[in-house]
Amino acid sequence: MKFDISIIILSAGKGTRMNSSKAKVLHEISGKPMLYYSIYEAMKLSCDIHVVLYHQANDIKKTMHKYFDKTSINYHIQDHENYPGTGGAVMGINTKYKQTLVLNGDMPLIKAEELKSLTIKNKEVINISYMTLKDASGYGRVVIKNDKVEKIVEQKDCSTKELDINKANAGVYCFQTEFLKYSLKKLNNNNAQQEYYITDLVAIAINENNTVKATKVSEQNFKGVNSKYDLSQALDIHQNNIKKNFMLQGVTMYLPQTIYIENGVQIDAETILENGVSLLGDSKIINSHIKSNSQIDNSVIKNSTIGPMARVRPNCDIQQSNIGNFVEVKNSQLNKVKAGHLSYIGDSFVDTGTNIGAGTITCNYDGINKHKTTIGKNVFIGSGCQIIAPIKIEDNCIVGAGSQITKDIKDGELVLNRAETKTIKNYFYKYFKIVSKKDKDAK
Ligand code: UD1
Ligand code: CA
Repeated sequence: MKFDISIIILSAGKGTRMNSSKAKVLHEISGKPMLYYSIYEAMKLSCDIHVVLYHQANDIKKTMHKYFDKTSINYHIQDHENYPGTGGAVMGINTKYKQTLVLNGDMPLIKAEELKSLTIKNKEVINISYMTLKDASGYGRVVIKNDKVEKIVEQKDCSTKELDINKANAGVYCFQTEFLKYSLKKLNNNNAQQEYYITDLVAIAINENNTVKATKVSEQNFKGVNSKYDLSQALDIHQNNIKKNFMLQGVTMYLPQTIYIENGVQIDAETILENGVSLLGDSKIINSHIKSNSQIDNSVIKNSTIGPMARVRPNCDIQQSNIGNFVEVKNSQLNKVKAGHLSYIGDSFVDTGTNIGAGTITCNYDGINKHKTTIGKNVFIGSGCQIIAPIKIEDNCIVGAGSQITKDIKDGELVLNRAETKTIKNYFYKYFKIVSKKDKDAK
């Protein structure tokens, strides 16, 4: 259900502390850029969404277009030269509703439910969010005296005493839109970073005898990401949430702390995931057993056993099959197929009842183009074959072990091509000039 509230997401910052050429909000958590999650959750609450950009604006916009309809988000470019800072980012934006929720774009753990709890219900002009932390370093500190919010002080502007405050500004604020609009004009940049801070609006409100409310929130959902270390911690929390949800729905996991599952993966309750499994992209796993250290990327696995140590690359549809250790499958459809060991199956269609012997490779790439391999029903391919695509092997064929197949094979045929075996007796002894035991005994 959407509410009468506007949302502004701040994503114009440089992300200096990430030490990366990539825009901060494009760094990924569970397979999707951080900003994706803020927008996704915001959309559950509002149909008036504004995203503020500046650094790498085009990259960010292009990436978001992959996930969201272009028309559903209003993009703004901050006047960063003249008005840097989180306050500068909000200037000049006209929002539609009486309340405007402002959130930092570097908070990938945010949940719509908790955002909703920040909406204004009384006469306060701002409702700020804060977290009580053991160590609030890195965050702005919320100064509360006699249960009343006084101001927010940025870490770089804190006195020694203020540095000890353990109430951290969580970075989400709900404003009465009217108040936000006229108060932004009163911001200045007289601070350590010479920026226009949105956080200064708290002191401005208090000075004018307005009420500011502070709502306590959890780090679990409000953690801000400024460095790669923060990113890893946010990922940890995000992964634990994803895995917990699947386990509560019935998915079995061995040592879940070693399993990685991206946002977008679907798994049904009959599935077993062993330790070290990675499930990527929009993979769909139904009634299957994924054994240890296997990776499945953007593929469908149904009623199958995969691994241990198998790799299923994007665009595979594997049903009722058994894919064993060190088998790599890419862009292929397999139905009731066995490929137990050490194979590469790429750009292939393999039909029911077919067995792919150990070490068999579909040679799909000629250095310029990729070619397709089609293998019919009940085909037995011996070990160590090279199948040079494009190629079609019809139903009911046998390919002898160690063969190199370059021509189509017709229904019922056996094909094998191996170099003939040549035997030269006692060659070893002559070559190394050694007398064999047999010759010695004969003397
Ligand atoms: C900010 C808060 C701090 C709070 C913390 C919570 C301010 C001044 N400080 O600090 O009190 O504890 O978030 O996580 O707001 N941005 C812009 N334009 C800019 C600068 C930043 O859009 O000119 C965006 C960034 O892209 C980012 C967000 O605003 O998404 C926050 O900026 P960041 O530099 O990360 O602020 P913090 O130092 O974390
Ligand atoms: Ca931040």
